Amino acid sequence: HLLRQDYRLNYHLMSELNWMNDPNGFVHYKGQYHMFYQHYPYKPVWGPMHWGHAVSTDLMKWEYLPVALAPDQQYDRDGCFSGSAIEKDGKLYLMYTGHIMTGPNKEKDYYQLQNLAVSDDGVRFTKVDVNPVIDVKQIPDGASEKDFRDPKVFEKDGSYYVVLGSNDGQGNGIILLYRSNDLFQWSFAGEIARSDGSLGDNWECPDLFELEGRDILIMSPQRMPAQGNDYHNLHSTTYMIGSLDTDKGKFSYNEYRPVDYGFDFYAPQTTVDDKGRRIVMAWMETWETAIPTQDGHHWAGAMTLPREVKLSGDRLVFEPLEEVKAYRSNPYEAHSIAMDGLQDLDISGDSYELQVVFEAQQAEEFGLKLRVHGEEETVLSYRPGDRLFRFNRDKAGAGLGGERRCDVELENGLLALRIFVDKSSVEIFIQNGEKVMTGRIYPGQQSIGIQAFSNGACQIQSLLKWDIK
Ligand code: FRU
Repeated sequence: HLLRQDYRLNYHLMSELNWMNDPNGFVHYKGQYHMFYQHYPYKPVWGPMHWGHAVSTDLMKWEYLPVALAPDQQYDRDGCFSGSAIEKDGKLYLMYTGHIMTGPNKEKDYYQLQNLAVSDDGVRFTKVDVNPVIDVKQIPDGASEKDFRDPKVFEKDGSYYVVLGSNDGQGNGIILLYRSNDLFQWSFAGEIARSDGSLGDNWECPDLFELEGRDILIMSPQRMPAQGNDYHNLHSTTYMIGSLDTDKGKFSYNEYRPVDYGFDFYAPQTTVDDKGRRIVMAWMETWETAIPTQDGHHWAGAMTLPREVKLSGDRLVFEPLEEVKAYRSNPYEAHSIAMDGLQDLDISGDSYELQVVFEAQQAEEFGLKLRVHGEEETVLSYRPGDRLFRFNRDKAGAGLGGERRCDVELENGLLALRIFVDKSSVEIFIQNGEKVMTGRIYPGQQSIGIQAFSNGACQIQSLLKWDIK
């Protein structure tokens, strides 16, 4: 089949062909970044999971490698589900979930356990002899025996730990912690966190790491109830800043917040690189949204831009990696554009970075329209009255619609946006990464217009644009 190019992204990692979901095994190993991913190599739909594999030296330009894991053993016969990577004694270990069906019902008839594969070169992986390394009989009472998955392994104080997502069978997500000295033998160390009914009925893809002396827990709850403007997707992400007590097997925290406020951001995974940066990438889809490229395009699924995670007070901020700047071309710059109403800007494109600073002045509402042609438009707007930033894709193109909102405060009357548009994606970093909104859009190829609008007088203080290829 011909791989259709219409919506193929210019500067994001996406499936080479057929299906991609979660990022897996994200690691910096022997001078390269490795990203593995949930992959069905035969069709652009979810199927028995393999691990796809790509490498990069700058997290922007990727080279595909052969599939790293395929379901070919008793202990992973119906899928090599999500997991993570860790380096030990110069070797690269992948820890992943084996998915095993026990009957015909996909929702009910299965169980899950944890396995290990190892490589000397980061390319060819061998599953270890002693799999599974965490068996179902090591699941504590009160945790699901079906949903027991997505190991994220890390080292702390001379031991290895792994966090796993599960639920209590009563509608609450939980996270389990196990400890090991060698990655092969694991013992249960505690149920470190549990939903109180408001945080979703199953927790997937936990990630626990240290940042400036604090412990951060990121995870992906399913069916988390909406809270105000937050958590309007069936599959959300949330983070907690707290502290992990490995002796007591408890993680304590006060508050939780969304990682991303847009439509398409799920199962984020982080790693730390040789420069000490904590970097996150996520699947730029969720389970409940349509993926128009499944039909006739022969591919489905992409990753977000790599983002650096930083701590700012009691919040995380997310910034695009520096490396993106090397891919800029055709710089454009304008200053002090007075606005009242709708106006075409002097720029256009389907693959670019925009940096815009708005001065709100008297305006009731102001914003940008991207990927405009005829009736088609993707609308980003802000209203000082309700302090809500809006990302609306009702008229953005094929397949999708809806609006997501997030609370944003002006800073000295200013709103700063850094926006990355790729052929079928938009990522908006608001007020220097305080909030991020990610979404897929599928506009026509002629939809390249860029407009600004306001209701009442306001000003664009500065407008910078680069094409990104
Ligand atoms: C998250 C997830 C994981 C699972 C994988 C299966 O998107 O449901 O919990 O391991 O996808 O592909």
